[in-house]
Parts: sequence; C-alpha cells; structure tokens
Amino acid sequence: RDGDPHRHNGLGCRTAVANVESVIHPAATDQGFPTQAAWDQFLIALDGTPNKSRLGANAILGCSLAFARAVAARDRRPLYETFCELASNPPLRLPRLSVNLFSGGKHAGGQVPIQDVLLVPVSPTTIDDSLTMICEIYRVAAEWCHTSFGMRLLTADEGGLSPPVANSEALFEAGREAIANAGLSRDVRLAVDVAASHFESAGEYRFDGRVLSGDKMVERLQRWVGEFDLLSVEDGLGQDDWPHWTHFRERVSGRSLVIGDDLLCTNPARIRRAIEARAADTLLLKVNQIGTLTEAAEANRLAREAGWSVVISARSGETEDDWLADLAVGWSGDFIKVGSVTQSERLAKYNRLLEIERESGLTIPAWNAPAPL
Ligand code: PGA
Ligand code: ZN
Repeated sequence: RDGDPHRHNGLGCRTAVANVESVIHPAATDQGFPTQAAWDQFLIALDGTPNKSRLGANAILGCSLAFARAVAARDRRPLYETFCELASNPPLRLPRLSVNLFSGGKHAGGQVPIQDVLLVPVSPTTIDDSLTMICEIYRVAAEWCHTSFGMRLLTADEGGLSPPVANSEALFEAGREAIANAGLSRDVRLAVDVAASHFESAGEYRFDGRVLSGDKMVERLQRWVGEFDLLSVEDGLGQDDWPHWTHFRERVSGRSLVIGDDLLCTNPARIRRAIEARAADTLLLKVNQIGTLTEAAEANRLAREAGWSVVISARSGETEDDWLADLAVGWSGDFIKVGSVTQSERLAKYNRLLEIERESGLTIPAWNAPAPL
C-alpha cells in the first residue's frame, strides 16, 4: 500500500503498480525464463531484500501469477492444470468450502473479539450443493439479525454478518441455530478463525471483558470444540505463544483441525518449527504472505509431507481475480476459504469453482475427520 493519507486513506497501490511497470518490466524484457521457478527466482533477486520490502510482495506476486497464467494460455489448458504441475500433490479433486457466516474482530466493528465463525459443508460432494446449503443458512442468519437487532446486512470485510451480540459464544449459538433452522444440522458444521494475535499480548488474552492466561485460553477453545462441534480452530492462540499451541493441539487432535495462519505466515521456516513442535496440523496458505508461487509451493509441500491438511485462503483485501479457485484445485487444497457468499471479489472465486466443477467432473471427497497425528 502507498501509505499516502490523502489518497484512499493510505490504501492506494500506485507504488506497487509503478514497480511492475518501471522496474520489473524493463528488467525482464528480452529475457527467457524456462520455468516458474526461474522466473520467481529472478523476481526475488531483483527485489534483493529478505522480506521483499523493495518491490513489495503484492507487486512480486502479481508477476509470479502472471507467468502461470501465460503458461496456461500458451498450452491452452485450464490454469489449475498449470498449478498442478508446480506441486507434487495427491490426485485432483475439489476443495471443501469453509465460508464466513459471522464476523467480529478486526474485520468488523470489533463487537466480538473472534474474527470469523465459518460454515463447512461436510455431506455434499459438489460445490453447487455446498453453495446452496451455505446460501440457505446465510439467509436464515440474516433474517435472525433482522428480527433480533433490526438490521439485516451489516456485513464485515469478507461479507460475514456482524450482529452486535454480547460475546463470542453467542455467535456460535446463532450459527448452530441458523444451521438447525435451515434443516442442515447433519450436513454443515461450524469452524472458527479466532485470530487471537489481535487480542493477545505478553501471553495474556483480553477477551470478552476478561483477561485470560494461555492455559485458560486453551481450556476455553477446548470447551468450544466440544460444545459447538467445531471442525477446525484457526489461530486460537497468539502467533508466538508456541507452548500453548502444542498444548491445544494435544488436547483436540483428531476432533478438530488446528489451523495456523498468523502462526505460520506461509513461511517454510515457521512451518518447519510448527511441525517439530507439534503446534498445528493444518496450514492456512496465503500466497501473498510469502510472495511467489514457488515459495508457496514449498510451504504446501512441507505441510503435505508432515501429513497436515491445507486450506487455500484469500485475504480480507481482495480483487475480482479468480486464480485462487484454480490454485485450490491444482494444489488439491483440502479446503478453500475465500469469505462469504456476498461481494463480487468473493463470488468470483465461487463462480470459478462452479466452472471448474462443470468442466472437469471433479468432486469433493467424502468427509473423513483426519486421524490424530
Ligand atoms: P486477513 O484475514 O486477510 O485480514 O489476514 C484473513 C484471515 O485471517 O484468515
Ligand atoms: Zn486467519
């Protein structure tokens, strides 16, 4: 982002665009790049900093992805097949959806500290049926917001509903109720992105009006997993609270997936540490956290080799580009997380998944809770 307070409140992207047009383009002109890895290596070297701070991860990622799109166009193949070749992964299949229903935390007004309560359809084997179920539950929940709070569509960054409830449990209860009222209790489960780093500091969790220790936070998360049958818990603990991550995983392994987003940052070094420390069992993969496809493929490979699951995820700031749907299919993501069933930048990905489904005949595998690792 440009950081210019007089333009789009600092969120403009002209610096990144200028870096593509005036730095990357002239440096690359008249050169040949035989592989994605060679191209990404060129971008990394051109930037020359350890954290891509000169050109910026978004400028670099845009170019990294453009190469994959160009290869797909040259070969006249769908983009997901190009992605598939970059990763050594299981046979192609469709990812299971993980969709924001309610949002709090930084993505909404901060009424409730947890960031997202999500819906995960477990019975359907198609994207089409999964979306139909999600839309029905979203409709029921929006009506509930209307009757309870006199509002319907106060939505957050990623399109989730943001009712002014008293605490986090109330969001889970409302989610469970919406699923039941839609008649889908056997088909759809709840999940959560706690995004705990946003309310943790120095090992203390400022949460729903209380201050909890790491041990108490683990107890709280474990209680939610039991009470609301949560399929997965993302960032339940602060990003550097390693001992409590391990502790939590020990307690819920085999019942609920322990997903690392802020914990791992799609960074191979942090993923290695988490595998070693048994701190998580699922990677939330966000390509722009690391900056190129080649480096994200390495993160994906490490997670797979450790027997982990992988969630291919969008960001709260997104565009209508739909490449992420192809990535989730090409890299056999167990889940895809791109936000709610509203807003064009979210729907673009769901529409692309529907297209891939129709063209490829692929299906979502039957749900089997992963065995404890
Ligand atoms: P972010 O949120 O894109 O704002 O990081 C998404 C998430 O936390 O999963
Ligand atoms: Zn997250």
